[in-house]
Amino acid sequence: MSTIHQHKPKILVTGGLGYIGSHTVIELLNNDYEVVIVDNLSNSQESIADQLMKITGQNPECYCFDLCDEELVNEFAKSQPDIAGIIHFAAYKAVGESVEQPLKYYKNNIQSLLNLLQAFSNRAINFVFSSSCTVYGQPDELPVTELAPIKKTESPYGNTKQIAESILADFARVNLNFRVAVLRYFNPVGAHPSALIGELPIGIPQNLVPFITQTAIGKRTQLTVYGNDYPTLDGSCVRDYIHVVDLAQAHVAALRYLRRIDNDQSFEAFNIGTGKGTTVLQMINTFEAVTGQKLNYTIGNRREGDIAQIWADVTFAQEKLSWNASLTLEEMLQSAWNWELYLQQHPLK
Ligand code: NAD
Ligand code: WQD
Repeated sequence: MSTIHQHKPKILVTGGLGYIGSHTVIELLNNDYEVVIVDNLSNSQESIADQLMKITGQNPECYCFDLCDEELVNEFAKSQPDIAGIIHFAAYKAVGESVEQPLKYYKNNIQSLLNLLQAFSNRAINFVFSSSCTVYGQPDELPVTELAPIKKTESPYGNTKQIAESILADFARVNLNFRVAVLRYFNPVGAHPSALIGELPIGIPQNLVPFITQTAIGKRTQLTVYGNDYPTLDGSCVRDYIHVVDLAQAHVAALRYLRRIDNDQSFEAFNIGTGKGTTVLQMINTFEAVTGQKLNYTIGNRREGDIAQIWADVTFAQEKLSWNASLTLEEMLQSAWNWELYLQQHPLK
């Protein structure tokens, strides 16, 4: 009996051991892609590779080096002649830290991108880039569409996303074998249903959901709601929270989209959210309802740099990527809680 060997497209996932990257690796493996990860472990742990093995039964190639090292990136690209796509997650992402240490952010987030583009510039590559709704600042109209103006952001982190988008648009214009999908994530939360991977904040979490789960489990004494005097339903800020598994699936959808488009449509940006806004107080109430945990919280002052409200118009992604977020707020918060409970029992080394 003869066996048909089907060629699996090979995808480079930079930052593949990080929060969103690791969830995306699972979706890629489940959809018959071959995966190669590059991660320098600056914000992740080696043991995540073992967790990926437990979940998928597969052990993707994994390389530990810094994408800011031009020579290493060039060598790596030469050693991988069959890469068909790149999903570029690797970046620093702490907004507050970026204000304190701007050069650290400009260097890491921009240099790594430039090195990758340079190293793969003569190749046919489908490139998916992790951008953020932060590029919109506070939009004038809601829900925000991809046509909304890109506004000056409050942070060097946000600037790196705007600059990276411009670099990619300019690059794709002259490298017609390079097709680019920029995904502007709204607020990714939650964890894999296995509870074997999830968000791993270093130190005190800056983001709402890890702060909620860490407060509920007793790692933090109290959650502060940053302001209840915004012009919103209950006075607290509104965001478009999206389950990280839905977000991970959007990357698979983006790769499929890039495979079927013509070269002259080689750069496109997509909002990746649910299209629904939720306030901070609604998040707290939903967390308490689904987990049965009472949260110790207080109302505090507004946080500098926060916008009042944002949620996505996701029509473009639905139409072009044939993708839709399907997981509920309850599933986001339950899975985040299950992950916190898992970490309590199995501290990752
Ligand atoms: P993360 O920190 O969990 O993952 C990033 C990974 O990249 C980490 O594993 C880190 O070790 C690695 N990395 C960083 N710099 C590197 C370098 N120079 N060389 C090699 N590896 C490097 O972050 P995440 O939450 O998974 O975010 C992934 C991407 O999505 C980032 O680009 C982030 O800016 C973007 N994003 C995140 C959010 C969010 O709320 N998490 C929202 C919008 C956009
Ligand atoms: C959500 C809401 C806070 C913590 C940030 C980045 C953005 C993107 C996603 C990368 C806000 C409130 C929070 C707390 C609170 N990241 N909050 N108490 O600020 O929407 O976006 O992460 O691209 O660029 O800026 O997310 O999770 O920090 O906050 O009340 O202890 O929760 O005010 O309204 P944010 P967040």
